[in-house]
Amino acid sequence: MKILFAVSEARPFLATGGLADVANALPKSLCESGEDCRVVMPLYADIAPELRELLTFQTDFRVRLGWRNQYCGLFSAKYDGVVFYFLDNEYYFGRPGIYGHPDDAERFAFFSMAVLEAIAHMDFKPDILHCNDWQTGPIPVFYNVFYRRNEGYEDIRTLFAIHNIQYQGRFGMEAADDILGLPRERRCAVEWNGGCNYMKGGIDQCDAVCTVSPTYAEEILDPWFGCGLDGFLRERKYKLAGILNGIDDDAYDPQYDPAIKYTYTAEDLSGKTMDKAALQKELGLDPDPDAMLVGIVSRLASHKGFDLIRYLGDGIMDLPIQLAVLGSGEAVYEEFFRGLQNRFPGRVRMVTGFDPRLAKQIYAGSDAFLMPSRSEPCGLSQMVALRYGAIPIVRETGGLKDSVRDLGGENGNGFTFKAYNAHDMLDAVQRCAALYADQEKWRAAVVTAMHCDNSWHRSAKVYRMLYKKLKG
Ligand code: GLC
Repeated sequence: MKILFAVSEARPFLATGGLADVANALPKSLCESGEDCRVVMPLYADIAPELRELLTFQTDFRVRLGWRNQYCGLFSAKYDGVVFYFLDNEYYFGRPGIYGHPDDAERFAFFSMAVLEAIAHMDFKPDILHCNDWQTGPIPVFYNVFYRRNEGYEDIRTLFAIHNIQYQGRFGMEAADDILGLPRERRCAVEWNGGCNYMKGGIDQCDAVCTVSPTYAEEILDPWFGCGLDGFLRERKYKLAGILNGIDDDAYDPQYDPAIKYTYTAEDLSGKTMDKAALQKELGLDPDPDAMLVGIVSRLASHKGFDLIRYLGDGIMDLPIQLAVLGSGEAVYEEFFRGLQNRFPGRVRMVTGFDPRLAKQIYAGSDAFLMPSRSEPCGLSQMVALRYGAIPIVRETGGLKDSVRDLGGENGNGFTFKAYNAHDMLDAVQRCAALYADQEKWRAAVVTAMHCDNSWHRSAKVYRMLYKKLKG
């Protein structure tokens, strides 16, 4: 089967979040299982020069977007066995920064239309167009309105994947006319609450919708999680599926990872003990092997649940733990963790920014890994933590619920809590610290965690079934 995976970011070329990991690992896994899955993304100015060198120019063509008629260059590169296509337009993508520009509505509408136009210029006719998040929401709309009757475009099926429903691409209704250029009678596809909503358009016009965990697929039908689209989705439940993401087992492997100081396996954890000591030294934490080192690697956004820690104030430090935090985002959380660090030097360290190397050293050097998210469509960090033998402590939401089970029950691999409540979280951390105090049992838990299979192969199989069903 031929699958074209349209996405606004993909590792290694450009990454701001988990979406980029999925855009790399899922196509790779599909290709390994014999499908022809290719990725298409914008050619951003921010793509590093050494990666740019891998690209070769294929051709160029024009893209019509409303009254506009724009240049688009088509480049391609092969990386890790997967073909990546890049769509080039200097005006839209030749600037620093990938999201948050005032003309994002136009930039990603251009990208969406260019993906469809590019199909005529590739030696690749997809059976499935797998679209991801609001930036590609217009693709199923454009396909139905402008392309499906064109020669070479017949019988393409569209799948729209929701990675996070909080970001919908909401604009004024004029976007439907001036930017998307939809005929009046078709504008209702993108219209939502008096405005133009790209994600709603994608959901409305695609053949199937999927999201990144079974629990999240249920949650977004509920007003608490649905961000205004819950009712609309409930009516389209028949075409909604939840498929749990995986992680790239090769990229995250403590046995070979060059980013960590001492490699290790579940059978021989001595390297992990040394990684903990090295991390403590690196971050200026007390060299105390008895303190349970809790790692946090996250964007510091409100839905990540750090309000729960903030609510406890210094209370969380009553436990015999150390905290290693790596992240950046909203100032309130940065300030909170920095304050904690000042009050507990040697026990708390906050590093601002995004440093993939340090992130891996935190996974490897931590005993436990905290993710108290208020909502989490899938979350990849808990899976990485498991792989590196850091016991995840998570709230039971979205993909966290689907990948972490409490050690108090059957098949446990972490600690979980249900309600979005600071003391429930504290209780889970406490139970984790109690297990840590019993080193023999703790070691067994770490080994179990490291043996969990969160590789992509399982999920890729489910995607293949979905594609097949769509193709009919
Ligand atoms: C988004 C979600 C995250 C998910 C990722 C990949 O970033 O917030 O939970 O893991 O997409 O699907």
